[in-house]
Amino acid sequence: MKTAEKTLRYTIYSALEELPESLQKLLRHARNETQKAYAPYSNFKVGASVLMNNKKMIGGNNQENAAFPSGLCAERTAIFYAHSQYPDEGIEAIAITALYKGEITHETIKPCGACCQVLSETERRSGKAITIILDGQDQIEVLSGVSQLLPFRFSGEELKR
Ligand code: THU
Repeated sequence: MKTAEKTLRYTIYSALEELPESLQKLLRHARNETQKAYAPYSNFKVGASVLMNNKKMIGGNNQENAAFPSGLCAERTAIFYAHSQYPDEGIEAIAITALYKGEITHETIKPCGACCQVLSETERRSGKAITIILDGQDQIEVLSGVSQLLPFRFSGEELKR
């Protein structure tokens, strides 16, 4: 028997203004998306915006439903919409942010497991690491690639064997 370790690496910024210009723009876009969320059940308004290879920014937000599992997270709303409109464009970056009781959450928001899985396939489709921006009032975290978010994941490669 032996044990192994995987280390996660990410960059921490203390405010939006510290981010590189293009990521600032994407995060501002995502913050704006929270305003259009439909979250009457949780009151947790999530915004996500993706930056595509063609430099288009596409946003989405969470869409809830009284039959809870029928709703969709902001990340998947944004990714699926982006790829439904531009199926051949890769996604370079995603910014995710959330408002609770009208304020950006103190801790960074992390995508749920289902969204991580979709991000994993989105990255495979794009062919290169996606920059992931997680917004929070206390700090902003920037990850390079889904491997930094979901180190053990089902990539789909297994289906080819
Ligand atoms: N939610 C997202 O949209 N993204 C996340 O990363 C986590 C959770 C939504 C789902 C639901 O509408 C609300 O937040 C509370 O869970």
